[in-house]
Amino acid sequence: MSTATALAHPNIALIKYWGKRDVPRNLPAVPSLSLTLSGFQTTTTVVWGARADELLLNDRAGSDTETRKVMDLLDRLDPARPPCQVISRNNFPTGAGLASSASAFAALAVAASEARGGPPLTRRDLSALARQGSGSACRSLWGGFAVWRVGTRDDGSDSVGEPLAPAEHWDVVMVIGVVSTATKAVGSTEGMERSRHTSPLYPTWVAQASDDLEEGIAAVRDRDLDRLGRAMEASTFKMHAVMQTSHPPLLYWQPGTVAALHAVWALRADGVSAWVTMDAGPQVKVLCAASDASQVAQALQPHVVDVHTLRPGGAARRIE
Ligand code: DP6
Repeated sequence: MSTATALAHPNIALIKYWGKRDVPRNLPAVPSLSLTLSGFQTTTTVVWGARADELLLNDRAGSDTETRKVMDLLDRLDPARPPCQVISRNNFPTGAGLASSASAFAALAVAASEARGGPPLTRRDLSALARQGSGSACRSLWGGFAVWRVGTRDDGSDSVGEPLAPAEHWDVVMVIGVVSTATKAVGSTEGMERSRHTSPLYPTWVAQASDDLEEGIAAVRDRDLDRLGRAMEASTFKMHAVMQTSHPPLLYWQPGTVAALHAVWALRADGVSAWVTMDAGPQVKVLCAASDASQVAQALQPHVVDVHTLRPGGAARRIE
């Protein structure tokens, strides 16, 4: 029996991933760019060699589906593995559009490979492993800004998270307005497939994605917040247009979401460089300079149940 504990942070996409070219391997139809955030984290312990497979998630037994997804990742790492116990905790809401699956599978990949022992996996291999649990998790293997390209290989070995710039590169923050902590009605995996099969906008979304990515990368390299903000909002609203034109429509926003984004735009009209993004949930995430964070938090406050200001964070790592 051996044990390892790892910590990983969620990441929020600045240029979005929505759609797969290969569902079982979680290979994306579009490339994406993300920012890993400190403050929110998943801590996961893997006991390699237990009496039976078991998942404890936030101090309760994992559901059958959750347990299956976790054990599938361990099977991919080692098809001849012993039964394992996995104990995972998030210090933020799970399954509510706050990227908990990204930090969860990144922490699991690191903890499992360390608990197993043997020759260490490269970051790329860990990223590929995490990706098969949840696509966006492959970006949380890196701190700061990370890119995930579509790749061309069928086995997905060239579609992993890659570092663009470390957390120290740029003094920006994400101010997260939590509109609701309810678990989302339609998960990302199901939602993406629905969009691929039914949204008339999906082909355009895929066709424009490489240009959107390059715009985002250039803006990060130049530390140009207005340019990055414009690219991020454009990618966000294009993705939500694809979601909303799926059948049946995927509307992840709540009234508070719309109120919060108008509040941010009003602030921007007053000269604050603050930019919104939303994922598969109602939360509003605002990218801005660290020095503008408290003003942004104040603008969000009346429309949300909670506000968190998160700085860029580090890579997934072993802690015990
Ligand atoms: C809207 O990575 O959760 O947050 O690969 O099916 O597990 P699966 O999906 P997931 O999707 C994230 C979608 C998004 C945008 C993004 O993070 O890029």
